[in-house]
Formats: sequence, C-alpha cells, structure tokens
Amino acid sequence: MKHDAILVLDFGGQYCHLIGRRIREQGVYSEIVPHNITPDEINRLNQRVNVKGLILSGGPASVYELNAPRLDPKILEMRLPILGLCYGHQLVAQMIKGTVTHSTCREYGIAYITINKPVGILKGLRHKEKVWMSHGDTVLRVPQGFEVLAHTGSCPVAAYRHKEKPIYGLQWHPEVIHTENGIRVLKNFSFEVCGCKPNWKMEDTIEEMVREIKLEVGKSQAMIALSGGIDSSVATALTARALKDKLTAVFVDHGFMREGEPEAIENTFQKFGIKLIIANAQTRFMQKLKDVRDPEKKRIIIGEEFIRVFEENAENSKAEYLIQGTIYPDRIESGFRRLSERIKTHHNVGGLPQHTKFKKIVEPLRDLYKDEVRKVAKLLGLPNEIINRQPFPGPGLAVRIMGEITEEKVRVVKKADKIVREEIEKAGLAEQLWQYFAVLTETKATGIKGDARAYGHVIAVRTAESREAMTANFARIPYPVLEKISTRITNTIPEVTRVVYDITHKPPATIEWE
Ligand code: XMP
Repeated sequence: MKHDAILVLDFGGQYCHLIGRRIREQGVYSEIVPHNITPDEINRLNQRVNVKGLILSGGPASVYELNAPRLDPKILEMRLPILGLCYGHQLVAQMIKGTVTHSTCREYGIAYITINKPVGILKGLRHKEKVWMSHGDTVLRVPQGFEVLAHTGSCPVAAYRHKEKPIYGLQWHPEVIHTENGIRVLKNFSFEVCGCKPNWKMEDTIEEMVREIKLEVGKSQAMIALSGGIDSSVATALTARALKDKLTAVFVDHGFMREGEPEAIENTFQKFGIKLIIANAQTRFMQKLKDVRDPEKKRIIIGEEFIRVFEENAENSKAEYLIQGTIYPDRIESGFRRLSERIKTHHNVGGLPQHTKFKKIVEPLRDLYKDEVRKVAKLLGLPNEIINRQPFPGPGLAVRIMGEITEEKVRVVKKADKIVREEIEKAGLAEQLWQYFAVLTETKATGIKGDARAYGHVIAVRTAESREAMTANFARIPYPVLEKISTRITNTIPEVTRVVYDITHKPPATIEWE
C-alpha cells in the first residue's frame, strides 16, 4: 500500500527535521528533501508514496541574499498544498510578489499572535495564541490573491493564505513545543488541507529500511559495527532481517568499554544467531592514543582506527558494505548539513577517513531520533537490557578521561563508572535518566586517606535527563544517593581523593565532557 506523504523541503532551519517528525507522529509519512527539488523528482517520489503536500522549512538565510536558497517556481504550479514556515513563508510571499522587508524589530522566542481569521490551518485556534517565533525578515504586505490570517504588533502578516489555492504561510514555528497549538496547526494542514489519511506507523519504517538495505547491498556481503548500544544493536537486527547470513557483525573491543560489557554483548548476540567477530584491539588503540590530549584528535584517531579494524576483518569476510547505526542527532552535531554548526565529531560520522575500502557506508537509522530507535527496538523484539541500555559514545570511556589516556586512568574510570551505575540503578533512578556516568577529570586534588595526606584524581559524576540528546538537564539526584556514590568511590578506588557533581545543562555544556 502506498502511504500518503508530506515532503519537508529543507531550507537549512534547525527545526527542519522536527517538522517531519511531528507529521509522522500524526500517522502521516514524511520525508525531508532538498529545497531545490524539481517537479519531476516529486513525480518520481510519487511512485513510492502519495505526495499530498509540501512544507517549506525555516532557514537562516534572508530572502534578499544573493545566494539564498530558492524554490523551483514550477512547484508553485503543481496544485499541491504548500505550507511555508518562517523562511518558507517569506520566500513564497516574495516569489509571488508580496512585500518582504528586514524587520526593524527582530522577534525571537515566545510571541503572542492575534488571529484575524481562524480558517484553514488555523481552524479551531483561539483569538490570541502563544507561539514561538524566530525571524529577521517580515512579510509586510500579502501578494495579490492572498489574505492575512494572523498578525502581531510588529508583524502585520504572521499568517496568510491564498484565497483559492491551498497555499499557506506562517511566520511562527508550529513544530516546536513552545508553540501551544502547533500540533493542531500541523494536523489541520495534513488532514484538512492535504486530505492525508493517518495510515502510516513505525512498522512501515522497518519494512522501508529493510527494503532499502536489500536494495543497497544486493547480493554482496556486509559488515556491521556492533557496539552493543541501542543504535548499533537495532541496526544489526534490522540488517540481519534484510541480509540474513550475508551479514557479519564485528565488535571492536578498543578497551574503553564499561566493565563487563564486552562479555554481555557477546552473550546477547550469540543468542540471536548473528555471525559475530570479537576484535581484540586494545593494544593498538592505546598505542595510537599515546600522548594525544586534544579531544577532537582523540575522536578522529578512534574513528579511523575503528574503520581500519573493520577493513581488516572485512577482507576475510569479503564484505563490501559497512552498515552503521548513525542516528539523526549524531549527524546534525557532526555538522553534516551545510548550514549547521559543527559541535563535536561523533566517531562514527565526522571521524571517518576520506577513503575507506568499503564500496559504501549504509546508515539505515540516519533519520531517526533516539526514542524512535527505542520503538523500533521493541518492534524488532530486542531484549530489554538492550532497549534500556543508556547511550554510550562510540569512543567509549576515552572521551570520559580528560587529557592523555593511560592504563591507570582507564582502570580508575571503569571502577568509578561501575559504582555510579550500580548506585543509580539500586536507587531506582535509571529509568528517568538518559545517562549517568563517571568522568575522570584532569585535575588532581589533596585528600586524607587513613591518617596520611593523599594526592589523587578527581572524579566527576554526570547525569543527564533528556529526550533526544539535543538538549539535556542535569538531574536532581537525591543527596543520599550522591553521598553513597562518593563514599564508595573514595573508599574503594585508592587513586581517587575527590568526587564532584556536574551541574551543567546542555547547552551550554555537552553531555559528554569531551
Ligand atoms: P554530547 O556529548 O554531544 O552527546 O552532548 C550527545 C549524545 O551522544 C552521545 N555521543 C556519542 N555517540 N559516538 C556516538 O555514537 C560519539 O562519538 C558520541 N559522542 C557523544 C553521548 O553519549 C550522548 O548520549
């Protein structure tokens, strides 16, 4: 069955992907496509899905800039419903010869709009609505044939529509949670304006991903990087479904896994009957990282070494394709999109060397958020210990040891991490936390052990509450639990003299320390 679909044209806005996700949450399939997609390309997509509408995302450019991203004008003649958001709203107005100007007063954040006409996508909204706005340019006058649907004090055309065609524009962002009735607006667009049926579900994505893997890999052999984290485990289970015994999973033990983890992974995946190779590479990783202090260099070295270990194993198994469990936030934080800032190099993305011996790297989970990956894991029947495992960075404890990595530091951080995990889990806090772990700082501090002065490491305890890892809060862990963690760490790890608690949200901090 072909699903009804809404395409989101990507003009570089930071919420672009969220729009697609919000549409899918309504049971309507949605895909992000480049802003310069042509009518022919849309028609080709129509062989796979029923394209029922287009949403033009926001973006950082001004419609006046010389190289500002444009829309193929023929798209406006396709008779497809269109909703322009923010930059998309200004672009459509400009293309149809409305008046757009640089705002004298830039609006950023919460704003209150007045609805002149609660029709079309604004059906059911109140006279005043709380919304999230972020824009520099403003539409001052609507083009001929259009009418104004909403305004604010400084924005005379906060929403418009064409009087006859299903073309709408909104200056605000309905996809972000700060817009109180944003979902209502997106539902109105999907169901009332585009006439979509809510007939898409996550299982369909699984089938779609399995089909895509089969198509990409064909009859060749493939290899997957299995770390035991939820992303690579889901990618492994999915790929095994698509390729059966043409898949070999490789678990690279770089020596920076948590205590007991390599053994647990081996146990779990053997039960699945997946061909699994354990590559013991501790010594070579340690050698490569000798004297390296810079966090980005560490990530790049680890990423590259990972690929080399894979390639060596691939030579034996004749694998031509590498499957990776990269998910959407990994890609955006590695700056994969032209206009997004690079924050840090996730080892399985930006750290990849330019040339690998694999024909292609396939990333079936590339458009999913973490909680969507969890849903897929459940649907695939993965065990709870994997579904609920906290996310763990590819470079492992290497990015939780500040500065140079030594064997002693690895030993210390492993022991501390085990204590943090045990105490948080014993206190029943694990479920509400995204992550909880120990970091070995580069600072040393004085303490007293027995009756003598001691000078040792400082361990930081980090906890994070988050839904998607794009933002996170440190958790308010009860003092008795923190006290237990601190006492156990200083009592049982002689090299540690002090334990501190990280009380920084993301942003401004990142979750991992490096
Ligand atoms: P940050 O530190 O960027 O982390 O706030 C966001 C989430 O991503 C995880 N993370 C990684 N995952 N490879 C991964 O697969 C990496 O290099 C990497 N670095 C961070 C981190 O644990 C958190 O959940």
